[in-house]
Amino acid sequence: MDISGVEQRLKEAGQSHLLCSWPELDTEEQTQLIQDLESLDFNELNQFFHNAMECSSSGEKKKLDSRMEPVPTEALGSATRDREKLETWKEMGLRHISQNKVAVLLLAGGQGTRLGVPYPKGMYDVGLPSHKSLFQLQAERILRLQQLAEQTHQTKCCIPWYIMTSGRTMASTKEFFSRHNFFGLCAENVVLFQQGMLPAMDYTGKILLEAKGKISMAPDGNGGLYRALRAQGIVEDMAQRGIECIHVYGVDNILVTVADPFFIGFCIEKDAECGAKVAEKIDPAEPMGVVCKVDGCYQVVEYSEITSETAQRRGPDMRLVFNAGNIVTHFFSLSFLKDVIDLHEPRLRHHVARKKIPFVNAKGQLIKPDSPNGIKMEKFVFDIFKFAKTFVVYEVLREDEFAALKNADSLNGKDCPTTARQALMALHKRWVLNAGGHFVSKTDSHHPAVSSCNGAADEQIICEISPLVSYGGEGLEKMVNGQAFCSPLVIDEAGIHQPMMDE
Ligand code: UD1
Repeated sequence: MDISGVEQRLKEAGQSHLLCSWPELDTEEQTQLIQDLESLDFNELNQFFHNAMECSSSGEKKKLDSRMEPVPTEALGSATRDREKLETWKEMGLRHISQNKVAVLLLAGGQGTRLGVPYPKGMYDVGLPSHKSLFQLQAERILRLQQLAEQTHQTKCCIPWYIMTSGRTMASTKEFFSRHNFFGLCAENVVLFQQGMLPAMDYTGKILLEAKGKISMAPDGNGGLYRALRAQGIVEDMAQRGIECIHVYGVDNILVTVADPFFIGFCIEKDAECGAKVAEKIDPAEPMGVVCKVDGCYQVVEYSEITSETAQRRGPDMRLVFNAGNIVTHFFSLSFLKDVIDLHEPRLRHHVARKKIPFVNAKGQLIKPDSPNGIKMEKFVFDIFKFAKTFVVYEVLREDEFAALKNADSLNGKDCPTTARQALMALHKRWVLNAGGHFVSKTDSHHPAVSSCNGAADEQIICEISPLVSYGGEGLEKMVNGQAFCSPLVIDEAGIHQPMMDE
């Protein structure tokens, strides 16, 4: 095999070490390595590295802190404070949905390292009575919302679902959706596409090998979205379908209100190019970025990029000064998305994540470092907020809309399958209470298992309502009003499942 061309390119780029184990590779490994090397643009990579490292020093962190200011009230809408507006926003959102102008886009290219499962996070079953995966819950919310928009506006409609995967999650995601018949959605309205990958590097910019003939590659961050949209003609697909706005969201929020008509209506009413939904950040130490302004432009300052002094700052009301917690739920107008892809994204630098990255050294030995030894370069989906001419922020109650699945149960009891499952069941329990149902103790039917006024649980109530029955708590009165239930209670398309007692 003639590799002189590749050798020369590697030499010019200072990456010749990538061929150090070449003679030991078999033909198949050699062919694969050459293919991988040929797909990389080393000049571009070296430039990415240089730019990313330049702005990742801790000095930069300090400087960033002094330039941050909280979201001004004029850009804010609130699901709790703006009650008189909610119906208008919902109506606008549903109307747009009924006119086929709204798409949803799921960011599902993460590796789920903290959760520790070898398959995509969307396939995870948190242990609900139905054992539905995160993907299924989201698919069924889309189905129900289509139905609600159709009922309100007497017209058939569709919310296309774009799903960004990565090299590591594409095949299994595809297979999972096919195996489950797209959870009742039309296959042509579920569009899977793949984000890019970038090599991991050491601190001097040398690309790392994860095996003798294999480059260590990782997804290029959820901001890899824009490059992927451009490369795969996704925005053209959206335009052809007549889409005008897109709800982008992360895979791991079990409470995510996919294509939320309130949020979409709010953004449309404000004529926003871009918007973010936020929930109050309460604990300064939690891994939650905050939406704020930096040098007068909107941005999310990530939890890893803020100093703890600034994260802990509190106002006179004792709430955190930077409390607009990013829950990875964003709004884009299609025209803004086009500008991002064509004009803005290429100008953005990558963020640097310092990690422990196993690598093969010059002697061909696999080293598993105990402390960070290299970097992964990532762009973030929110890096483009600053380019929006009109940017708005919509505050929601955390217990209604955000419960992240990040960690395994064994890690620290936070953002794990147990907390995600409990958050969903607590929400569904509140829906039942709001619709006039109540819960009684199994042992004594006169004893309330949960107070109907504040929803506080005296015992852990197991309650699951299928998204096919209710998207946001609507439509339950006729099923539960005046009824008493014991835990567990499951409500799905087939009805109510549990022993039930009349008042
Ligand atoms: C993310 C947010 C953070 C927020 C927190 C809330 C980003 C960059 N950070 O942090 O501000 O407060 O969630 O839980 O959005 N993903 C990809 N491709 C990638 C990497 C990630 O599609 O290359 C997806 C993941 O599948 C997930 C989402 O992006 O759906 C968020 O990624 P994750 O790595 O979980 O972000 P966090 O660090 O938790």
